[in-house]
Amino acid sequence: MSIDGLFTRTEEFPNSSAQARLNSLVGLDEIVDRLVVDAIALLDSSAMASWSTAVHGEIIPAVSAVLDRTPMFVFAGDVGVGKTEVAEVIGQAIATRAHVDVSLYPLSLSARGRGAVGEMTTLLTRAFERISSDFACARKQDGTASSLGVLLIDEADALAQSRELAQMHHEDRAGVNALLRGIDGLRVDRIPVLTILCTNRLDALDPAVQRRAAAIQVFNRPSHEQRAALLLRLLAGTEISISDVESLATATAENGVWPYAYTYSDLRQRLVPEIVLSAYRRGVAVNSSIAKEVISRTPPTRPFGSAS
Ligand SMILES: Nc1ncnc2c1ncn2[C@@H]1O[C@H](COP(=O)(O)OP(=O)(O)O)[C@@H](O)[C@H]1O
Ligand SMILES: [Mg+2]
Repeated sequence: MSIDGLFTRTEEFPNSSAQARLNSLVGLDEIVDRLVVDAIALLDSSAMASWSTAVHGEIIPAVSAVLDRTPMFVFAGDVGVGKTEVAEVIGQAIATRAHVDVSLYPLSLSARGRGAVGEMTTLLTRAFERISSDFACARKQDGTASSLGVLLIDEADALAQSRELAQMHHEDRAGVNALLRGIDGLRVDRIPVLTILCTNRLDALDPAVQRRAAAIQVFNRPSHEQRAALLLRLLAGTEISISDVESLATATAENGVWPYAYTYSDLRQRLVPEIVLSAYRRGVAVNSSIAKEVISRTPPTRPFGSAS
């Protein structure tokens, strides 16, 4: 579904397909849990109030320091490490934990708004207007929220040009300003919407945007254990044993040829499908020698921004 052509499609949580996607994430439980707890604290003042009353006997003044923060997370890191996936399904985890309906509004700046001058600014401004009006009545008198929103601004690298401010095209600066106006407006009006900004280039993200973020979460390529856990799940039921998985996790690490490990998407979207197809073409079972052969001809993705 697309709302006025602004968002790619909206999604309502809880729903079972989002839960399945959440369950299929490997190695991110701690990160997701912390982000969910923080998001609920930022969006629903009654959550902090009941905690403070329970442990301090009153709502301590410092609670307002939390509630004054901008409900915005920045997800940063290389390509294929789970930023978009977590941003798209975190609403599911928030909905189940807070027992409240959550709606996702995904906006992609790479797919849109890079055409005519002024388009990105207009897009951002209209998106914030739309989401503010949708959630204007979601906050009840006592501060609790009857529903929550997640505004996902994916591929925000178009906004991440601060270091080159001097040379920055006037239009890009206008985009940053539209974003700042938008998130400040949500905060001032206490609209229960979490903004998530994903970028491959944290170092270039405008400092004014970084400063406002309630959390900056850097996502990394999977560790040995995380690669093993993902491969074990993805290759379940094949002839690949647990000890084979260990050696596949080692084979997908950084080495003399590739000074960087495989990303989550390298494993899930490239390697495993190719391993399965390779066995299928030969009409044989998926086994570790096929897996090793595929790894040897399927290098990991180069880190974002590294020279080719
Ligand atoms: N922690 C993870 N566990 C399992 N699969 C993952 C994990 N992180 C990412 N993936 C998979 O890798 C692919 C790319 O992830 P994505 O979130 O699009 O990366 P990006 O960081 O570039 O936004 C998706 O298919 C996603 O499901
Ligand atoms: Mg992404």
